[in-house]
Amino acid sequence: MCGIFGYIGKKDPIPICISGLKQLEYRGYDSAGIAGIFQGKIRSCKEAGKIARLEKKIHQEHLNLEFAIGHTRWATHGKPTDQNAHPHFDDKSTIALVHNGIIENYQTLREQLQSEGVRFLSETDTEVIAQLIGKFYENDLLAAVQKTLPLLRGSFAIALIHANHPDQIVAAARQSPLSIGFDDEHSESIVSSDPNAFLISTPNVLFLRNDEIALVQANRIRVFNSQLQHIDKKIERLENDYQAPSKGGFEHYLIKEIFEQSSTIQKALIGRLNEEKATIDFEQFSLSDETLKNVSNIWILGCGTSAHAGWIGTMFFEDIAHVPSSVEIASEARYRNPLLTPNTLVIAISQSGETADTIAAMREAKQRGCKVLGICNVANSTLSREADSTLFLKAGPEMSVCSTKAFSSQVAVLSLFALHLASLKGLGKDEMRRYFNELKKISGHIQQVLEKASLLQTIAKKYAHYDDFFFIGRRYMVPTGLEAALKLKEISYVNANGYPAGELKHGPIALINQKFPVVAFCANEQTHEKIVSNLMEVKARGAPVLAFAPEGAHGISNIVDDIFTLPPCIDPFAPFASIVAGQLLSYYIAKERGCDIDQPRNLAKSVTVE
Ligand code: G6P
Repeated sequence: MCGIFGYIGKKDPIPICISGLKQLEYRGYDSAGIAGIFQGKIRSCKEAGKIARLEKKIHQEHLNLEFAIGHTRWATHGKPTDQNAHPHFDDKSTIALVHNGIIENYQTLREQLQSEGVRFLSETDTEVIAQLIGKFYENDLLAAVQKTLPLLRGSFAIALIHANHPDQIVAAARQSPLSIGFDDEHSESIVSSDPNAFLISTPNVLFLRNDEIALVQANRIRVFNSQLQHIDKKIERLENDYQAPSKGGFEHYLIKEIFEQSSTIQKALIGRLNEEKATIDFEQFSLSDETLKNVSNIWILGCGTSAHAGWIGTMFFEDIAHVPSSVEIASEARYRNPLLTPNTLVIAISQSGETADTIAAMREAKQRGCKVLGICNVANSTLSREADSTLFLKAGPEMSVCSTKAFSSQVAVLSLFALHLASLKGLGKDEMRRYFNELKKISGHIQQVLEKASLLQTIAKKYAHYDDFFFIGRRYMVPTGLEAALKLKEISYVNANGYPAGELKHGPIALINQKFPVVAFCANEQTHEKIVSNLMEVKARGAPVLAFAPEGAHGISNIVDDIFTLPPCIDPFAPFASIVAGQLLSYYIAKERGCDIDQPRNLAKSVTVE
């Protein structure tokens, strides 16, 4: 249900919508569709699969439209088929509608409409919105939308057109982001889930909220509240730093992004280490020193890779800044009753800044009076607009669905923030400078791993035929191992279980046999002897073992089947080189297995439904 885009203006809307949808493909690529008006009639084209397939079909069908709305889908309700692809229509085929979100009471609404004789063509929750608007329509489209919205439970951003109103797109939103932009001459208007998809360099933008309804015409945009009273919306001017995506000579975005990390890490650090004063300097940072000095605990929110980075963050906060902290999967966080106080700092981490679970949990925390610090890669994203302050990763666009460079940059920014807190709480300058020196070595460590990528390719060939893996580690290597396991799951469809090494013996070790390799992350000095014992335990049960261990690590090479050596490093910063090795292993295994590496099945780069 995931990326929506609409264009109305003088230009051909089809190529503009297709380009916009391609920018939104990170929100899902199960199917795509477009609809518009041509000579007073709704015309549409939709297709299961990625936008490239839609593009081909549009071409074959010689589709012409005067203006258009489009959609790229991540399937929730109903399989990714042509029929379930958006746009959806009302019974009379006079309305076409695209939707991002979930209508939680769609079943009741659908049954009610069916009992009134309405015929449904898809299995989606979205179709009820189109049908309801169709039912309420009496020559006034805004009024029909206004009557429909209160009946919907859940979240939505919608854009719709009606054959009787061939000069307008109507848009509305609740909990899901929707931005409307226009050029300086106001000769064209664009509706999009994400303003970064506007292909205008400095668009004028407004954001819809809380059941607001917009009437979008080429030269005019009017916004109304749920009572259809006109509201004056703040118009923001965005700097769109659009860069055409490029694989830069690599076969996939993923491998390009893995290789970028020696430089993206530097970008995360550059200008932020004030060596002279031994302090951290964040640009455009609005959480005052006073607020931060009073922080009693930190609660970190995120999903997937971002949650793993957050887990490493909790260790930084405890080890470096001595501030109690915990991490919570965002989809669970908002239904808990955490003991938050005004001195709890909430950190919401999201590469895209659009993940619905993270946004919802952040809003919940804000409502409870907490300050929220965002850690994000994408400027103008929902997270960066709503958090009290945001630290950006500066890693550049991450195109591959599987997150790599964002993870290492998130961990780097978390380490900087832990150091900032530590210095406010009195960490000495010598100690700060010691950390600075270690941070400055990270890029070189990553480079050393990248230079040995071909060795990991050889190792990957040996392990690619296995269908089950354990990824184990201790301390900093637990979240690192979990993150590496997630990479393998995502792009190879292999059953890769991340586990704390010490926990294996409490059940999971029952799975171990010769067909169940163990990938061990051993770059944690503090627990070195313990992980060596864990390696003995799995080896004794026949598991093939691959270890990622620092050069010269004692007692590992003689136990394991394969070893990939890492540059020695202090424990807190060992995740960087280790994860790059894990990412490369996953990439080469996926390649051996012939998988769709940049856009794996069933996934979306950012999941915009809860
Ligand atoms: C999706 C992606 C993951 C990502 C997660 C969180 O599930 O497939 O790779 O880690 O979303 O994304 P975010 O943009 O919030 O970091």
